[in-house]
Amino acid sequence: MSSQPMPPRRTVAASSGSGNFAAATTIAAATISAGTTAADNASASDTAAPGLAELLTAHLGPEAAMVPIATVTWPPYEHVNVQGGVDRWLARNGAPYRLTGMAGFRLRMFGLSDLFHDVGAHTMTVAGVSMTDQPSGPGDETRSCVQCGLYLVDGVDGPDDGDRTADPRPPMALLLRGTELRGPQQDVSLEIACSDRALARAAAAEIRRLAVEFSVYRGHVLEFGAEVFGPHQSALSFHERPVMTREELILPPGMLEGVEAQILGVNRHRAALLAHGQHLKRGVLLFGPPGTGKTHTVRYLMSRLPETTVVVLTANALRLIGQACEIARALQPALVVVEDVDLIARDRSAHPDAAPLLFQLLTEMDGLDGDADVTFLLTTNRVDALEPALAMRPGRVDHAVEVPLPDADGRARLLELYRGSLDLDLAGADGLIERTAGVTASFIKELIRRAALLALDEQDEEQHDDQNDGAAAPDNGLRVSAAHLDEALEILAGSRHQLTRRLLGAPGDLPD
Ligand SMILES: Nc1ncnc2c1ncn2[C@@H]1O[C@H](COP(=O)(O)OP(=O)(O)OP(=O)(O)O)[C@@H](O)[C@H]1O
Ligand SMILES: [Mg+2]
Repeated sequence: MSSQPMPPRRTVAASSGSGNFAAATTIAAATISAGTTAADNASASDTAAPGLAELLTAHLGPEAAMVPIATVTWPPYEHVNVQGGVDRWLARNGAPYRLTGMAGFRLRMFGLSDLFHDVGAHTMTVAGVSMTDQPSGPGDETRSCVQCGLYLVDGVDGPDDGDRTADPRPPMALLLRGTELRGPQQDVSLEIACSDRALARAAAAEIRRLAVEFSVYRGHVLEFGAEVFGPHQSALSFHERPVMTREELILPPGMLEGVEAQILGVNRHRAALLAHGQHLKRGVLLFGPPGTGKTHTVRYLMSRLPETTVVVLTANALRLIGQACEIARALQPALVVVEDVDLIARDRSAHPDAAPLLFQLLTEMDGLDGDADVTFLLTTNRVDALEPALAMRPGRVDHAVEVPLPDADGRARLLELYRGSLDLDLAGADGLIERTAGVTASFIKELIRRAALLALDEQDEEQHDDQNDGAAAPDNGLRVSAAHLDEALEILAGSRHQLTRRLLGAPGDLPD
């Protein structure tokens, strides 16, 4: 390879992939740079592919194998951000570079230092750059990332000491590798070789910083899924932020205001609170029977915090709490949601590690700096299972709120909320509201739907009769009478629906 200066280029041109998380594609040309043309690449590929050791020595000089190497690793889901960091770093320092792929890298343990040596039959040769599409936003947004590639960068500037004329500008080599499905490469790694150790370190630190600053996860709703690749790996997926209004949430007066003050209020007044020596970190626990609106409240709070990074951890992903907190800390303001947190506290026999996980969560909650704008929002319908652990480690939860079963007023408001565009006859609603004492919001929702189904069945029958009589079908709204509601309640209250009732969060027997 010649050491001629190469014109800078901004981003790696990638062929399109399938949009799949693990999809990998290969760029046909072995090396790419803005100055090269298709003809250049064609003539380059006519000649025999040089070994990587040869290429590195030509780039870094005869002492290449002795050059210090700085290494940084990230968890698999950071691949997209590392690529962003590398691209930005290259664009910012403006040094010419070329990107080279290699053949035979899959399922192999190797580092940049191994590439300086041709090791017999296993020598890896220059080849196309293998690419992979990584999720980069909600929906199907992806960014093409280098799966395994060697960046050969010319003359990077050292720190600016006012006079750069005599500064040496040593060349660098960067090896970027993404996580490999079922392979030994478990992390995303970046190795930087440069004769000036400080320069290599500075480049690594800068790329790490850029990866955080421009993280594609910032300000999004994310969820750690269950195991995707294996027990030690995880995927972080984007979710659309819920859109919800206050009116969609029926809660006792004052309850939501308290939660809002704790979560949204601190968020809004963060600068003033910090200026007055107050901490920002907060822990809110929503507890109450199933189906009363804990998850619904979480969704509402997410919709009220459009700029906040949200990390949702379900109980089976709780072992990733450390990584979730790391993301929250790096991308604050952040909200860490742990749903059904009792599940990890309850069953120690089935999950021998359950208690340590809960303690790890509490430790992480305590471990964040006081000025970190991070909220922990926990939900449970078994607060009794959780209380001993919380009592043993006080101070993690500073606001615990019961989300109760709706009272009569709540049930009346729920009937209004879930009627949708139904023409609901609520003339006799008082009796209905009385007879639904003890049910949840989910129950009321289902009650209305059942009544609507009964009304539709009736309408079908009438239309059928009318058609037989030759009358035109009515095209007005669906009228649901008090009788439909009563009948639906009777069905749901009947002995055949004992389990349905329990699943909807209603008591075993409803009042007559
Ligand atoms: N307070 C409420 N106001 C309005 N709708 C509600 C309310 N509570 C529940 N719902 C309706 O019932 C559905 C189920 O409620 P949700 O999932 O929030 O219950 P939960 O308290 O999280 O239960 P679990 O303890 O089983 O997780 C919601 O999606 C919503 O449609
Ligand atoms: Mg829930």
